[in-house]
Amino acid sequence: MPTNPSGLYSRFGRDFAAGTVLFEEGDVGTEMYVIHEGHVRLTRGKGNTETTLAVLPPGEFFGEMAIVTSQPRSATATLVEPSKLLVLDSGTFESMVRNNAEIALRIIRKMATRLQAANNQIDILLRTEPNHRVVFALRLQAERSGRREGPGIKVDWSVQTLADRVGLSVSEVKQVLDRLATARLVMVMEDGFIIPEVGQLQDYLEFLDVKEKYGVHGDST
Ligand code: CMP
Repeated sequence: MPTNPSGLYSRFGRDFAAGTVLFEEGDVGTEMYVIHEGHVRLTRGKGNTETTLAVLPPGEFFGEMAIVTSQPRSATATLVEPSKLLVLDSGTFESMVRNNAEIALRIIRKMATRLQAANNQIDILLRTEPNHRVVFALRLQAERSGRREGPGIKVDWSVQTLADRVGLSVSEVKQVLDRLATARLVMVMEDGFIIPEVGQLQDYLEFLDVKEKYGVHGDST
């Protein structure tokens, strides 16, 4: 988030081992973090109800919400790999925002993007049926950040990321993907998915909408 994280690293940088839990959901929070190197997983809930909100890459920040709202941590932050982070106390964070409009704007943009993603997540979770959730999430992602590659639109998601987005287990998602692949609506690649015709996925989604609305059950693709 700061415009020159490398310069700030000597002052605020700290190294962390893989698996370190920086804070847990519900904790009181007085610091925020900027990822210099490594990845951070943000989760909510525990055990069966644990959900991954996001896996953040270098350049991203997190932990600002507790500082800004004085509310407990809204999620648990765990380091996926050995990582280097800038750790900023609330005073430092506030003075950076007050003194640098560019930083403030970047934070607002990022928070708006996270809000959009959370709204999308609500739309996905409103769909009760697994087929429906997966198709809806893939269509949304293809339209938002898919890019043309080979025979269609590529979505750079792993099966795990897709499972996190739709709130289903990896095995449930794989069952749906098998059906979609058989119907040639989705091609499952090693590093993501290719959707040959987003329009066909949309047609299938409309069919599922009607099915859900009129309560017709069944598993046909
Ligand atoms: P805070 O509540 O202090 O601690 C958890 C952090 O996770 C939170 O601040 C945000 O920085 C981040 N966070 C919360 N919800 C999301 C989300 N849906 N997507 C990405 N980051 C989030």
